[in-house]
Amino acid sequence: ASYDMGGHDTYMHKEIHEQAEAVDRVLRGRIDDRFSTVHLGGLNLDARDARAVRRVKILGCGTSYHAGQIGAQMIEELARIPADAEPASEFRYRNAVVDPDTLYIAVSQSGETYDVLAAVQELKRKGARVLGIVNVVGSAIAREADGGMYVHAGPEVCVVSTKCFTNTCVAFALLALHLGRTRDLSVRDGKRIIEGLRKLPAQISEMLEQEEDIRKLAAQYAEARSMLFIGRVRGYPVAREASLKLKEVSYIHAEAYPASELKHGPLALIEPALPTVAIVPDDDLLEKNRAAMEEIKARSGQILAVAHQEQEKADHTIVVPKNEDELDPILMGIPLQLLAYHTALALGRDIDKPRNLAKSVTVE
Ligand code: AGP
Repeated sequence: ASYDMGGHDTYMHKEIHEQAEAVDRVLRGRIDDRFSTVHLGGLNLDARDARAVRRVKILGCGTSYHAGQIGAQMIEELARIPADAEPASEFRYRNAVVDPDTLYIAVSQSGETYDVLAAVQELKRKGARVLGIVNVVGSAIAREADGGMYVHAGPEVCVVSTKCFTNTCVAFALLALHLGRTRDLSVRDGKRIIEGLRKLPAQISEMLEQEEDIRKLAAQYAEARSMLFIGRVRGYPVAREASLKLKEVSYIHAEAYPASELKHGPLALIEPALPTVAIVPDDDLLEKNRAAMEEIKARSGQILAVAHQEQEKADHTIVVPKNEDELDPILMGIPLQLLAYHTALALGRDIDKPRNLAKSVTVE
């Protein structure tokens, strides 16, 4: 593909910087202010169908799976429907029980990932209802699904997904809001989420202005042989995605853990040579996250916090603009894309085409 680089040296950099516009596109034409909800006609799911859903199961691979984890949390929080995400490949090989009251959602940037497509086909064979949350219009998964929504991130060329991840998370927020408003989510909460969604593009731009500071931090972390990413509940899938991004593009080994699991093992690894990135949103778990940082500091570990306010326990903090608690994970992922990018750049990696990887895995 040869799209205009618009003055950027790599597609990854270009695509990171396209995110404010991309988020604007996924929101466009979908918000209904009168009823504090959203219109998602392509779902082919009327209010009665939506109310009949007893469970949501989200399937995807890699970054799309991580977006699905964030989506599952949003659906549980806003619609109070039990939801979880699972790698599509695991799902298809474990002979999963397919339940008619579960809404299945396949997530894919390319819409061509074989493991996801095969999972969708298996589900349909068993009579399940499957929606697609897909970027590429008319792709195999979009065609195979019973309905769904396009994420409108625009063409993503870099093998490593950035803007599509962010847009998929926003698409999930729209779906969660929609499902919530067919159930018990109040008009007031619907309105609160809509206001939060509308703030995202400007907050993304504000976030990207910190690129130079993040570049300086990345120059330090580029020396690490391994990094630990921790988060709790809303922050955990953010940590997992950040860890994947760093691995893919810089080849630095990284591992993500729920902050609460540190004491059950990974604390043994902490020493000055293993830096930790802590996702610390300003929500009801802030104190718990501070305690985890204290544990790491007590063992001379270095900490980079991604937070809504300066963190005393951390060596550095990247301060992210605050949104509604449920939407915070969307913005917290963005500085970590920049961290991965600048770490890879400092190490001279082939950023748009990391070794051993393909943009979409269309084979078994
Ligand atoms: C993303 O940075 C990865 N290269 C990879 O994990 C990707 O998300 C995965 O292969 C799924 O692709 P898809 O979204 O096109 O289905």
